[in-house]
Amino acid sequence: EKGGWSSFMAKEVSEEPEAVANTIRGRVHEGRVVIPELDGLDDLFADISRIVILGAGTAAYAGLVGKYAIEQWARIPVEVELAHEFRYRDPLVGPDTLVISISQSGETMDTLMAVKEAARLGARTLSICNTQGATIPRESDAIVYTHAGPEVAVASTKAFVAQITALYLFALHVARVRGTMGADDQAAQIEELSALPDKIRWVLDNEQERIEQLAHWMADTRSVLFLGRHVGYPIALEGALKLKELSYIHAEGFAAGELKHGPIALIEPGQPVFVVVPSPRGAQVLHSKVVSNIEEIRARGARVIAIAEAGDAAVLPSADEVLRIPLAAPLFEPILAVVPLHVFAMGLAEAKGLDVDQPRNLAKSVTVE
Ligand code: F6R
Repeated sequence: EKGGWSSFMAKEVSEEPEAVANTIRGRVHEGRVVIPELDGLDDLFADISRIVILGAGTAAYAGLVGKYAIEQWARIPVEVELAHEFRYRDPLVGPDTLVISISQSGETMDTLMAVKEAARLGARTLSICNTQGATIPRESDAIVYTHAGPEVAVASTKAFVAQITALYLFALHVARVRGTMGADDQAAQIEELSALPDKIRWVLDNEQERIEQLAHWMADTRSVLFLGRHVGYPIALEGALKLKELSYIHAEGFAAGELKHGPIALIEPGQPVFVVVPSPRGAQVLHSKVVSNIEEIRARGARVIAIAEAGDAAVLPSADEVLRIPLAAPLFEPILAVVPLHVFAMGLAEAKGLDVDQPRNLAKSVTVE
């Protein structure tokens, strides 16, 4: 089943381009996003005044990315919360709230219980799920499946990029229904989305070997930090989670703007720090602030590995390594920037001789609360 791959995870990372392409397929018609499964829900999307996204682990990080696109395109306020935190705090949701749950397996007990609680409180529920007929979609009012294909490795990889893709499609669908986005803009975003599979493939073809080499050199590292800002922040969290769960190395993800509020105290000579650099073609201020962060930590001896778009020369003077991603509109960068981080976590675990498909103490589907 692994084919010629060394692990299911290696196979599944290689399938990230198809996971995105297959999730888009059948949902774009004449330059507009039309998700057939959401047919008949136009009234609901016109009526809701807020969205709450729930999930656990990697799925929750996909939700954090999705918030930016939904708010920007569909102009609905979005909160993202860990399902297990939501469930036990008497949350304020009701008929004006759409609760979107995200789950690869569709069986995560924490997420299922949160969805049931939301429904009990009168919220409408939508499930973004990768497993046909699983419990969470069955308990939800509406379903948008991700089509990443079966994910066997415990660590979620191709499902993560598919979850962000589904959230973006959802945002475009709702933006069309609510009339918050012009036709040209909608068409431009669809073009960006559809270009992602080839761009992910570019990252794998051009950078995978170098990242694996880097991971090999770093096999004795005891701690790795990840920084990101805006949509790059959840990607920093995802990079850190994947590294801890696969390689058992201490890893933390931070919002780059938080650095001076505490985490910079952790920087000492030789400390590896991955930095997800926003495109200089997006908000210039975000790019220059993250470049300053790189300079600050470099001045304190950090070993900086930047993930930056092709051609961004501002990172060159202070980064020790630059991993390149192809040009994309800023909202689409997370789907590209996460690929080197998945490859790195896998490469480091392999360099340590660990089982990347079945990390210690973890189960693929967490069916207890
Ligand atoms: C991380 C990972 C977990 C899952 C989380 C939710 O690599 O796999 O953090 O993302 O347990 O699982 P699902 O998506 O099945 O609800």
